[in-house]
Amino acid sequence: MIDSRSPEGLADYSSWRARDYFETYYSEVVLPDEQAVLAYQLDVMRRAGARFGRALEYGCGPTLHRAIAAAAYAFRIDMADWLADNLVFVREWLAQAGGESDWSRFTRFILGCEGAPADDPARTARREAQARKAIRGLYVSDARWHDPLGPERRGFYDLIVSGFCLDAVSSDRGVWRACMQNVLSMLAPGGTIVMHALHECTAYKVGARMFPGAGLTVDAMAEALLENGATRASLDIQVIPCPDNAVYGYSGILTASARKQPAP
Ligand SMILES: C[S@@+](CC[C@H](N)C(=O)[O-])C[C@H]1O[C@@H](n2cnc3c(N)ncnc32)[C@H](O)[C@@H]1O
Repeated sequence: MIDSRSPEGLADYSSWRARDYFETYYSEVVLPDEQAVLAYQLDVMRRAGARFGRALEYGCGPTLHRAIAAAAYAFRIDMADWLADNLVFVREWLAQAGGESDWSRFTRFILGCEGAPADDPARTARREAQARKAIRGLYVSDARWHDPLGPERRGFYDLIVSGFCLDAVSSDRGVWRACMQNVLSMLAPGGTIVMHALHECTAYKVGARMFPGAGLTVDAMAEALLENGATRASLDIQVIPCPDNAVYGYSGILTASARKQPAP
């Protein structure tokens, strides 16, 4: 058994299996911590008061739920992840080819948060069609790169959503700070960031493997967001306890949002 607090024995992403990840976290129910972060993302997007032009989901993995949530609030959504294998999962769902993953449970949850009746298959299908239409580019990208999607995407996105990615790149806090700088450089002046991370987690479980966590705290998140242009007034950071997930290597979720300073 691997000690989840030890950096030794951590897997690297060459051994990542998209299916293992989907099975571990997304195949059965909308877990309580996931309910909380999805509701948080929806609330931030709704409170923005106007539809975002260009959105990016950074570090999507093999998941669609954050993009399905964003689809009613953004005209165009790009998605990026380091592993092509993850993007294959996403592409299959987009192609409606009866791919390996079913996200309708999440879509129903999202619609429920927005006040729709609990079970309305036509509405669920419409929201998923809206997501399929809004999602445009799928990009392989490394958050450790200076311009993770190339220099032309600097200051490009009005909304960036990133769930449990940047803190999962490495257990080295310095790497996480560099990734924050690189990804936040893609946010336009006045743009909104929604970010979720594992709270004080140094290793999280996928299948039988443990992957790295940067062990983030509220203070580290606040500092990094402010350093990268977030306004202090817009900053919101919360810790959602999830003691039942200790078995996966974490007992809390950090969820954060902020707006970047507007152009002078
Ligand atoms: C815990 S998963 C999160 C997936 C999804 N966003 C979610 O909320 O379930 C971490 C993701 O980070 C991606 N990742 C790891 N290293 C990366 C890097 N250097 N650059 C970009 N993405 C990376 C992995 O491929 C994986 O999809």
